Amino acid sequence: MAQPKFEAFRVINESKPQHTYRGAIVGCGRMGSTIDDEHIGMPHYPWPWAHAPAMIEARGIDLVAAADVDQSKLDDFKRRWGVEALYTNYREMVEKQRPDIVCVTTRPGPRAEVTIGLAEMGVKAIFATKPMGRTLAEADAMIEACLKHGTILSIACHLNWYKWYTNARQVIADGAIGRLKSMICHSPSSLSNLHSHTLALFRLFADAPAKWVFGVMDNNEQAAGDADLSGSGFVVYENGVRAIMNSRSERSGLGWTLEFIGETGRIVSRNAHAQFELWRTDSETGGPIQCQFPNPWHPRSSMVDAIEGVCRSVEIGAERICPGEFGREALEIAIAMRESHRRGNTRVDLPLKDRSLRMG
Ligand SMILES: NC(=O)c1ccc[n+]([C@@H]2O[C@H](COP(=O)([O-])OP(=O)(O)OC[C@H]3O[C@@H](n4cnc5c(N)ncnc54)[C@H](O)[C@@H]3O)[C@@H](O)[C@H]2O)c1
Repeated sequence: MAQPKFEAFRVINESKPQHTYRGAIVGCGRMGSTIDDEHIGMPHYPWPWAHAPAMIEARGIDLVAAADVDQSKLDDFKRRWGVEALYTNYREMVEKQRPDIVCVTTRPGPRAEVTIGLAEMGVKAIFATKPMGRTLAEADAMIEACLKHGTILSIACHLNWYKWYTNARQVIADGAIGRLKSMICHSPSSLSNLHSHTLALFRLFADAPAKWVFGVMDNNEQAAGDADLSGSGFVVYENGVRAIMNSRSERSGLGWTLEFIGETGRIVSRNAHAQFELWRTDSETGGPIQCQFPNPWHPRSSMVDAIEGVCRSVEIGAERICPGEFGREALEIAIAMRESHRRGNTRVDLPLKDRSLRMG
């Protein structure tokens, strides 16, 4: 029988990566290094968000090097994080520092070239920020290169590792809301850039690939172009789970709200992951009853949990929480919703045949 007095120690110890990896960052801008400066006064969401401080805080990995084409970003990085091995060329960084795990926090433009180059140079895992790329062809090439070279590709949609959502998945697995049937998102934001997070999270919860989509964009002019945009849409997954996305641009003051609706209850996350609710159906009256949502026992930054998760993915030889396929599906759904609008709001089957389609 487990000895209760050692239980916390056991949980902490067993969640650690088994080894200590060499970590590096390509792209030392906001997401790579400085974004937490913008989040003072947002206490509900545990920081750090930036990859460098998250890598420093994570167990099982040391931040040993970084690369950026802009020397001034490297100077700032050194001042903040005390890293000395800094390069203006990521290939030279890999040759000289031999990192195991590399975060790619450039903007989407260089992401495919850098990811493919890192895979070819034999890094064990790449943790690339979102959106995965600009075109479906780029996303395909990133996945293919990582597969060919045995590199784990994780997309940094870090909500997928956030303990509140991990617990929500556990609530569903325990049968507390019955079989998951629908998911709803309301958040007035861009479909590809911000909603990569939502769509990767939906993919994790649906536990099946998206099958078809329709969409209504905010206006025809935006839908005709390639820039990221907002709108509304509907996704049907292969197992019948459905998702409704409302990213319609409006100034309602309401933040990100997500609902996971099962046969006998629902989980609601409000105000950009600040409040989680669990509602079940009273078996006698059929009315709704609110139950305590199982808050995380050890809540912390989802980016720290994600980076430790990538270390563990190296150890099991697979990425299950947010692989490249989830990042590509997020981009593909956003593009397919826009395609649906262009075709008169008709059903669009996935995968899309035209891999040159782009967003952003
Ligand atoms: N919560 C999140 O997950 C989150 C939040 C903010 C931004 N992002 C994403 O992070 C990405 C970067 O956004 P940002 O705001 O940090 O941009 P940024 O411009 O501040 O930083 C990008 C950095 O990459 C560097 N760079 C460009 N090409 C390079 C190359 N070939 N090799 C090395 N360095 C190179 C640039 O010089 C720059 O310093 C975007 O895709 C954005 O969507 C994610």
